[in-house]
Amino acid sequence: MTSYVTKNGNSYWPSKAMKKIAWINNKSIYKEAAKNPIKFWGKLAKEGIHWEEEWSPKNTYVEKLPYFEWFKGGKLNFSVNALDRHLGQPNKPAIIFVPEDPKEPPTILTYSELHQRVCKFANALKRMGVKKGDAVSIYLPLIPEAAIAMLACTRIGAIHSVVFSAFAPDALRARIQDCDARVLITSDGYYRRGKKENLLNKAKKAIKKTKIKDVIVVPRINKNKNYWGKFKRFDDVSYGRSSHFPPEMMNAEDPMFILYTSGTTGKPKGIIHDTGGYAVQTYWTTKLVFDLHKEDIMWCTADIGWITGHTYAVYGPLLNGGTTLIYEGTPDFPKPDRWWDIINKYKVNIFYTAPTAIRMFMRLGDKWPNKHKMDSLRVLATVGEPIDEHAWKWYFNKIGKGRCPIIDTWWQTETGGTLINVLPGIGPFVPTIAGLSFPGTKHSILDKGGKKAPQGFLVQNSPFAPGMLHGVWKNHKKYKETYWKTYNKQYDTSDGAILKNNLIRVTGRTDDVMKVSGHRLSTAELEDALNKSKFVNESAVVPIPDNLRGQVPVAFIVLEKGKPSEELEKRIKKHVDNTLGPTARPAKVYFVNDLPKTRSGKIMRRILKNILANEEPAGLSTLVNPECVQPIKEMVKERKK
Ligand code: WT7
Repeated sequence: MTSYVTKNGNSYWPSKAMKKIAWINNKSIYKEAAKNPIKFWGKLAKEGIHWEEEWSPKNTYVEKLPYFEWFKGGKLNFSVNALDRHLGQPNKPAIIFVPEDPKEPPTILTYSELHQRVCKFANALKRMGVKKGDAVSIYLPLIPEAAIAMLACTRIGAIHSVVFSAFAPDALRARIQDCDARVLITSDGYYRRGKKENLLNKAKKAIKKTKIKDVIVVPRINKNKNYWGKFKRFDDVSYGRSSHFPPEMMNAEDPMFILYTSGTTGKPKGIIHDTGGYAVQTYWTTKLVFDLHKEDIMWCTADIGWITGHTYAVYGPLLNGGTTLIYEGTPDFPKPDRWWDIINKYKVNIFYTAPTAIRMFMRLGDKWPNKHKMDSLRVLATVGEPIDEHAWKWYFNKIGKGRCPIIDTWWQTETGGTLINVLPGIGPFVPTIAGLSFPGTKHSILDKGGKKAPQGFLVQNSPFAPGMLHGVWKNHKKYKETYWKTYNKQYDTSDGAILKNNLIRVTGRTDDVMKVSGHRLSTAELEDALNKSKFVNESAVVPIPDNLRGQVPVAFIVLEKGKPSEELEKRIKKHVDNTLGPTARPAKVYFVNDLPKTRSGKIMRRILKNILANEEPAGLSTLVNPECVQPIKEMVKERKK
């Protein structure tokens, strides 16, 4: 069997076979790009993307911080690049959809079918009055209609805002209101562990007090149900519509989508991504980092509710004319080898997932991956949080069978695509190391004072990558303050990093953002949700390390009413499920009399963190209420027994 890696000392490098296949096998691309990154991206933009009109060379990159523009004056339509360009291979599968129920046959959409369905649905949206620049909310599980809806928006030039289907109604409502969407695309439900999950009920609750006038429902659970009023069936609205839709020509800088993500305050930020720069970066990072070739089947396990699902489960593979596989269901359903069975059955070549999933499968035992050869695999990759050596090795040996490189891809919702990684034909593949800045981009590690250091804060330098965010929706101030305030003219990632042999190791967030099973959640967001409960007077949330989920939140609560009890803890957890969604549910709730605060009233979460970690909290003298610390210590000790 072909091996794509060779071992040298403690690290792995691409084998001859990998070097032969890989788009890039010569390190010179890094030097070349660094010489003139703007020219480099200008060349990539023309080579990778079809433009209706090109930009003048002096406008390839225009920087007026905190904003910067790429390919200014260029005109394109994203869906033309993802679909029409590949109609020369009309029968090539674009999307393979694997339903959760193993007995339900997969849906395979060829490029030609996908093109038709996207155009029909774009016509349907147009009839509902959706125009260029309008926002459309999408609240769908991982089914083909999600990709169709997203692509239809890009055909029209409407801005899509996808909201993760596990989010609670309140979270969806806030996101609909913020972007002023008039149309919501959702489904009646989806399957989880063989059970039907209702989605429409949540959507119905969410649209109260919004301007939604049309709700388009994909009948995933009940194919025969009819809808009335503002509710319309997805297939009905498309029925009879033309399968041609002249693509709307967009400026490179026009927004293509918004995706909400957690910051350090309670309110999620609408991260704006543009059309041209995002297309260029998505095309090239997919091609070079995952080494995707047209013949390849790529499976990125992320849900479309996250940026990873946007960029690498939908847009990247399609821009490249490859095939993307999407799977609706639970990873270990009906058996713990479901994922490995899918890889084997559909001959997946590129597999991309999160460390938290790898850790879960590790616990389920080796016998499950051992049942499957998975010899189609060529590239394995991870994203979302640092991957520890143990999980890396298991992934490498059990899934890749020691044959495939593991590409540790660092990025964020804000960066639009992976910007720190190693290329499969170059290497090295080292546990816990993400690697190098993608050619044409540059990162630095700084100390608190902003000076270069071997360990410290990760920033990005100018010129900023073409797929980077273009602001925060309706919130210039937040954009400026979150990303551009701390380090002069450099983008603040809020991550910590270490430089080791010139390779970057990302150690995780340095702000109040947690990563729970790879999902981003801020302590403030969860505190906000807790404080909305009628039982809660005040709360403080701190993350603790968790072997499976990376981090989990722990809540300290001062009660407004009620008495501390297991029952009340349950009710409060349920309240979080209903307002934010189960991912945010605190692992533990401590009912305390008082929270440690400074004289200015700031809650000292660090002290709570110390107590949970069994460390002696320092700096108690700055507290206005140091006497509250001892009882909290005792309570935590008691619960740990
Ligand atoms: C945060 C961004 C964008 C993909 C999904 C997450 C952490 C992401 C890595 C990695 C270490 C990583 C960072 C980052 N992160 N990838 N390979 N190694 N940490 O997107 O939800 O916006 O979260 O995820 O802390 O800031 P996101």
